[in-house]
Amino acid sequence: HGTSTINDKGHLQIGGVDTTALAAEFGTPLYVYDEALIRQRCREFVAAFRAAGVKYQVAYASKAFCVKAMCRLVEEEGLALDVVSDGELYTALEAGFPPQRIHFHGNNKTPHEIEMALDAGIGCFVVDNFVELHVLNALALDKGVKANVLFRVTPGVEAHTHDYISTGQEDSKFGFDLQNGAAFRALQEAKELKQLELLGLHSHIGSQIFEVEGFRMAAERVAQFYARVRDELGLTFPVMNLGGGFGIRYTEEHKPLPVGDYVKAIVDAVKKQFASYTYPMPEIWIEPGRSIVGDAGTTLYTIGTMKDIPGIRKYVAVDGGMTDNPRPALYEAKYEAMLANRAREANEETVSIAGKCCETGDMLIWDLELPEARVGDILAVSCTGAYNYAMASNYNRIRRPAVVFVQAGRSDLVVKRESYGNLVENDVIPARLARGAQ
Ligand code: LLP
Repeated sequence: HGTSTINDKGHLQIGGVDTTALAAEFGTPLYVYDEALIRQRCREFVAAFRAAGVKYQVAYASKAFCVKAMCRLVEEEGLALDVVSDGELYTALEAGFPPQRIHFHGNNKTPHEIEMALDAGIGCFVVDNFVELHVLNALALDKGVKANVLFRVTPGVEAHTHDYISTGQEDSKFGFDLQNGAAFRALQEAKELKQLELLGLHSHIGSQIFEVEGFRMAAERVAQFYARVRDELGLTFPVMNLGGGFGIRYTEEHKPLPVGDYVKAIVDAVKKQFASYTYPMPEIWIEPGRSIVGDAGTTLYTIGTMKDIPGIRKYVAVDGGMTDNPRPALYEAKYEAMLANRAREANEETVSIAGKCCETGDMLIWDLELPEARVGDILAVSCTGAYNYAMASNYNRIRRPAVVFVQAGRSDLVVKRESYGNLVENDVIPARLARGAQ
């Protein structure tokens, strides 16, 4: 998919660059991003909204992969950016991302984070709860500024995805409940808060979702609520944000629709509701993360040791693991992989890909078909662009890998591999523990 091909040496090539050459130049593990594919996904979302003929904003959910070069790419593509922490906000600002196009999310924004965002002049806060509502108003008052706000609501839609990433149901830490009156009360209170400019509601039902039905139901429920709020509170909102969560194909069990189909289903549902109550059609905002970067990322590893347990299983270990991709251990996520240096060879054996961390759960792929793997082969795991680098850790004091963007036959380093120095730079030895202190 994307710009991936097999070149005449039988090597996997991405963005016109031989992946074995990338492994040799930058070392492994290495995250490789197909820049053209990221841009294509951004454009697919935009094209779908244009075709639907509505006002829109597509915000890239930076939590999926937030580094400065990615912020630049998103800006070039004309998207907005969703951040959920001071760290993501800082990264975006450092990249020079226009603050007016930044949305701030999160269920526990600290006063410090809110002040930082107000000082930067970000485009909108997605307010999650009553505490935040009042803290935001007070801090904005202190600074003599107004804050644009959306209200995160839980529409009571159960999305079919992993429990840890499903967010639309009533029992969730996120947002104001639409059905038990919390959302209505939040708006009643907000109406009196003079520093807040109320843009509308926000709903995000979960992540890695395939059916359009959940999005349609959420859109309908939120739209119905707009009518009620207008009738009972006299508030008319210019924006409706329906979140992200569009699924991608990690393995053949996943059957995502083209991204435009999700957009169309959402827009149609909103249009239909609004047509029935003569309400000016709000702008529709969405915030996809995974579907923009997920399948554009590939992780390259070098195969090291092997352990064959006759009649049971053969373990093939790579030089990374749960530190660069915790998703299999966390969510039992499935991935596909191939030998990048022997891409045309037929599969001969079934192996399980183990990481190098000191724990049994550090497995990347169970029962993978491969040519007979040899020490030094380069394993390419696909669809690692979302929530891999973003969730990487230094467990076992393993250094985070480098990240490269490839396009048009060239590669550009966008994140350096961590150094040993990086690992210890924040460590402090108290004087009483210094060598020879006695
Ligand atoms: N908007 C909100 C409010 C969100 O909470 C999320 C994801 C998104 C947008 C973007 O969702 P996406 O389009 O990427 O599905 N670490 C997990 C995924 C957690 C998603 C958290 N929120 C994973 O690796 O699967």
